[in-house]
Amino acid sequence: MRAMSQLSNGERIHLVDQKGRHYALTLKAGETYQFSGQTIAHDALIGRPDATMVTLSRGKKMLALRPTLGDYVLKMPRGAQVLYPKDLALIPMWADVYPGARVFEAGTGSGALTMALLRAVGPRGLVVTYEMREDFARTALQNIDRYMGPVPNLVSLRKNAYEGIELLDDGVPFDRVVLDLPEPWQVIPHAAKALRSGGIYESFVPTVPQVMQTVEALERTTVFAMVETFETLLRTWSVQGRSVRPDHRMVAHSGFITVARKVEAGLLDFVSRREAESEGTREEASANMGEESSR
Ligand SMILES: C[S@@+](CC[C@H](N)C(=O)[O-])C[C@H]1O[C@@H](n2cnc3c(N)ncnc32)[C@H](O)[C@@H]1O
Repeated sequence: MRAMSQLSNGERIHLVDQKGRHYALTLKAGETYQFSGQTIAHDALIGRPDATMVTLSRGKKMLALRPTLGDYVLKMPRGAQVLYPKDLALIPMWADVYPGARVFEAGTGSGALTMALLRAVGPRGLVVTYEMREDFARTALQNIDRYMGPVPNLVSLRKNAYEGIELLDDGVPFDRVVLDLPEPWQVIPHAAKALRSGGIYESFVPTVPQVMQTVEALERTTVFAMVETFETLLRTWSVQGRSVRPDHRMVAHSGFITVARKVEAGLLDFVSRREAESEGTREEASANMGEESSR
């Protein structure tokens, strides 16, 4: 990610109007940006500080800024549907993607999750991403390059993840496997082999039958424990003087995230017995406190 404080030639920036709407443009010296019959020369933006107020030809004021990753993914060119920022925020945390980690991802789609993973692994980590469609992969790589610049620690391959996950030439297993594709259960047997013990599997799917097939496949491998599925609902608020209330609209559904931990062969019985016992203890504790056990 470029760290300069001034907007520079060739950079993707956003103009933000008073209602908070974003308009993306790539700065090119000598060109002119047109907006609702008003114009501004790119040269008037190049060299200005990040997050500066600019005035268009007929007086419209807009904020010119470098987009956050969340803003950028919502406006970048798309091949496949991108993940929403609310899910992009959760996925690296729940997969515990750490600086230096080696992560396998499929499919690349438009590259939104790839960028979130690259940020989380940092320059010492590695992301290997599979995408079957050449056109989607090309768009994704352009999106990533435009936002992050060159990323030597990204390996982008035109491969079908349902057919297998290949380790790189050094034979080192992956620390994390993160999937956003229609049938993750087809990848799970491969993830079971490609992950190191203690590694984390995580997938995102939009529907309940997909979750069921995912969890069944995780259980079938007999090496995944601590399987958890959840979704996230983000409700934004309107705060204007004394009128403070939730916004009328929200994204009510995006998808379900399933996470599991790869354990050493033979440990699974122990882990599931311990989980069942602690569930029992929690229920007993709630009953003793006179609470509902299912909250
Ligand atoms: C929903 S999109 C992923 C979006 C991506 N997470 C993002 O945020 O931009 C799913 C992608 O998986 C790819 N895909 C589907 N099946 C695949 C497979 N078996 N192997 C690799 N990629 C696959 C599709 O072509 C598509 O681009």
